[in-house]
Amino acid sequence: MFRPNDNFNLLPESYLFSEVAKRIREFRADHPDADIIRMDIGDVSLPLPECIIKAMHKAVDDQASQATFHGYGPEQGYSFLRDSIAEWDYNKRGIAHITADDIFISDGAKSDIGNIGDLFGKNIRVAVTDPVYPVYVDSNVIDGRAGILSDGRWSNILYLECTAENGFRPLLPADGICEVIYLCFPNNPTGTTSTKDELRKWVEYALRNEALIIYDSAYEAYITSDNVPRSIFEIEGAEHCAIEVRSFSKTAGFTGMRCGYTVVPRTLKYRFSDGKTASLHDMWNRRQCTKFNGASYIVQRGAAALYTPEGREAIAHNVGLYMKNAHTLREALLAKGYIVAGGVDSPYVWFKTPGCKTSWQLFEQLLHDAHITSTPGAGFGKAGEGYLRFTGFNSEENTIEAVKRITNC
Ligand code: MLT
Repeated sequence: MFRPNDNFNLLPESYLFSEVAKRIREFRADHPDADIIRMDIGDVSLPLPECIIKAMHKAVDDQASQATFHGYGPEQGYSFLRDSIAEWDYNKRGIAHITADDIFISDGAKSDIGNIGDLFGKNIRVAVTDPVYPVYVDSNVIDGRAGILSDGRWSNILYLECTAENGFRPLLPADGICEVIYLCFPNNPTGTTSTKDELRKWVEYALRNEALIIYDSAYEAYITSDNVPRSIFEIEGAEHCAIEVRSFSKTAGFTGMRCGYTVVPRTLKYRFSDGKTASLHDMWNRRQCTKFNGASYIVQRGAAALYTPEGREAIAHNVGLYMKNAHTLREALLAKGYIVAGGVDSPYVWFKTPGCKTSWQLFEQLLHDAHITSTPGAGFGKAGEGYLRFTGFNSEENTIEAVKRITNC
């Protein structure tokens, strides 16, 4: 008799953003005339820059001719894109040791984050911040690594609480109590960042404990502050203990296009249980060759256009607009006297209103009273209870209108 994966039976019934979308749909059905301003999921609103569209049109034409047609591409991604990433995102930023060979193109950071657990042993303990992007936790539940859920916490996951008291920055765990640490800076959902000195401590921890850091830097394009690293590979030694996951979604508006990449340096070596050397690079390559046939040629051509002068200028412009919105939201919430984080090097603004309403109650109140959507902090973890998250990804006009409504709330 077929038996399904029992771990699905342990998962909460729906994924956070699906639940948010469902509640918004229900509200819309009951209030068809409501002018709803979306500030929930981190989905971009600006169209793709023209140079990307042109590159993809050209790629479509390539597929129409025998001489330029592309069938299956390399599972690791095309070198025209991997070379540009290595040059612009690493080498020109002073990270000479990351090469095109270390980079794997994918259909998005979320897929890679969900899949990366294929590299982990069965009985290891993972550490996550709380609040946290739910994919880190849910994918470990599906893989059978999380243990039992009790009072909002999985028994085999180590939670590093990020609260107003610690400035929403996780503290280092004790030595020897986890083998994998998921870090995300600029952070989703709190919008906080880590300085070079702070990040160095995590790298030292991982090296000392032979642990692995999964570093999600999907929001690095939003960093403007000095001394905030854009890549974990700015820290010496990280090439021996970290995998970095990046996305074109929030940078270049690729949420609907699906393209990202993961850097698994060749220098990343651990040991299998029989003592043999395990190269995570070779393992990830084997995993991708087995389960993935590469991202679409057309989309990769579009992504490569981001690294042209026009592409870089367009991205800087779009990121600037989203940041301005995040800043506007941050200032408005601070003016109301709320606890606020993010909105400086991040498109996300994380805040808590006075009183003791739950995140979902606040979500419903804001939706009903102001027709504004948000993401309930509790959906990101127990430590997020009472918080909401806004995004700066709407238009400037809608953000200003949202601020008016919040101010009058
Ligand atoms: C978010 O809103 O947290 C993100 O957009 C979700 C995602 O990237 O999957």
